[in-house]
Amino acid sequence: MRNLMYCLHIAFLITVFVGIGSSSDELKHETATKRSPYETTKVPSMSQKKKPHVPIQDQSYRYTPDWESLDSRPLPSWYDEAKFGIFIHWGIFSVPSFGSEWFWINWQGSKNPKYVEFMKKNYPPGFTYPEFGPMFTAEFFDPDQWAEILKSSGARYVVLTSKHHEGFTLWPSKYSWNWNAMDVGPKRDLVGDLANAIRNNTNLKFGLYHSLYEWFHPLYIKDKDNNWKSQEFVKSKTMPELYEIVNKYQPSVVWSDGDWEPNDKYWNSTDFIAWLYNDSPVKKEVVVNDRWGSGTTCKHGDIYTCTDRFNPGTLQPHKWENCFTIDRKSWGFRRNAMLSDYYSTPDLIKEMVTTVSCGGNMLLNVGPTHYGQIPPIYEERLRQIGEWLRINGEAIYGSQPWTFQNDTRTPDIWYTKGKGSKELFISDPVYAIVLEWPKSGVIELTDPTASGSTRVTFLGYAGAVKWTVSAPGIRVSFPSKSKVSNDWAWVLRLDNLRY
Ligand SMILES: *[C@@H]1O[C@H](CO)[C@@H](O)[C@H](O)[C@H]1NC(C)=O
Ligand SMILES: *[C@@H]1O[C@H](CO)[C@@H](O)[C@H](O)[C@H]1NC(C)=O
Ligand SMILES: *[C@@H]1O[C@H](CO)[C@@H](O)[C@H](O)[C@H]1NC(C)=O
Repeated sequence: MRNLMYCLHIAFLITVFVGIGSSSDELKHETATKRSPYETTKVPSMSQKKKPHVPIQDQSYRYTPDWESLDSRPLPSWYDEAKFGIFIHWGIFSVPSFGSEWFWINWQGSKNPKYVEFMKKNYPPGFTYPEFGPMFTAEFFDPDQWAEILKSSGARYVVLTSKHHEGFTLWPSKYSWNWNAMDVGPKRDLVGDLANAIRNNTNLKFGLYHSLYEWFHPLYIKDKDNNWKSQEFVKSKTMPELYEIVNKYQPSVVWSDGDWEPNDKYWNSTDFIAWLYNDSPVKKEVVVNDRWGSGTTCKHGDIYTCTDRFNPGTLQPHKWENCFTIDRKSWGFRRNAMLSDYYSTPDLIKEMVTTVSCGGNMLLNVGPTHYGQIPPIYEERLRQIGEWLRINGEAIYGSQPWTFQNDTRTPDIWYTKGKGSKELFISDPVYAIVLEWPKSGVIELTDPTASGSTRVTFLGYAGAVKWTVSAPGIRVSFPSKSKVSNDWAWVLRLDNLRY
């Protein structure tokens, strides 16, 4: 086994050295990541198929390894209630931390001049990507500190890249000999250490990202050359790894990626997901995304991610997630990022609000450094979002989309619906989230219709709110800004609306 793995490793290094595997359509995905978040021209449409209802309590029910059966599984309720998670992109790409986490393929696959030049200027001739491995030192990685920062953001779950397309595993995988964080670089189990710290110190759910494909793995390239008629890579790498991380770390999310070249039959995705739902240690609460082979995205899985930074601006027929980056241009940390490359806190709150109003969750990405720190610019964004959520979280957590997602006439007002109580005759409150402070001091809410007992409250403001019935809707006078304990996106809670 070891000898075999050694041969594979040598083959791997040779492959790296000669830089096989460059075809421009491998970069499709990265191009997609560069789209503006508000650009909604190319929104893919979701599968409208109605899910047959299968009660999750029925423990004897077994899913079969086909999408019809797997898609009938009800979504574990924690996920929709959570609304907000943090994505962490960390790996060997955090060492060069230049351009993006697609460093390796940009440099040696597509031979992008920007990357070739960077290597020529800063590293000795003949330097190979695996030589970045020992430089992934993570000497300041303090998982308890990370847990505290992540918790402060108000997020309810975390998803860490257990392995990106470069193939380096952040856990000591039996299937990634000498290309994992225990053998090379940090010399520790980064996945296990973070999982323990999250579970020790917070109530956040812990999830794992995993890339099905690896750009330069010789067995993957061999299967590709065989037109996906062989599955050597899936048998010896992808599947063993997926079972390994689920059994070892019991992730609440399995966030698959790197799926798009062959189809799900090649990946054996449905077999794995059926095991996950029927027999795995996380069968009750695990959530999977939709990236399980070409053609599955936006069609299959518990939650749809569709594209990176998906934010359609309209109500969607299926639970979805907007995976979004604080750095506009990269998921991994970039030393060459400018301040203007980072979204501001109000930008990020707007992204969360528009996402949640339309039925989505936001998975907000940070890129730690090779020395193991979440850079303070990210930390500040996270803490500020957390402050906002401490005041306004009731409009987000556990909310549902309302009849209207945004106001039909007044721009920059988005709605969500909370949960009242049938027993106590409390109707569901509606939240109007106002993204821009009204210059006139007055705001028109077109869509809510007041009843005789309607109440309006302003979250983060202790005083009474002045409002009147207007036709149609409700006109609200904003208080003095200095009396409001919140700097961005103000929330009006509307109780007892007629509709
Ligand atoms: C916290 O995590 C450590 C590992 O980092 C583990 O050994 C310890 O048992 C955990 N403590 C608690 C209270 O769970
Ligand atoms: C894929 O699933 C089929 C059917 O369960 C199984 O026979 C085959 O061995 C699996 N292949 C891999 C690579 O796991
Ligand atoms: C509401 O949102 C939709 C979709 O994002 C947008 O097209 C529309 O202009 C918005 N309405 C207003 C009044 O801004």
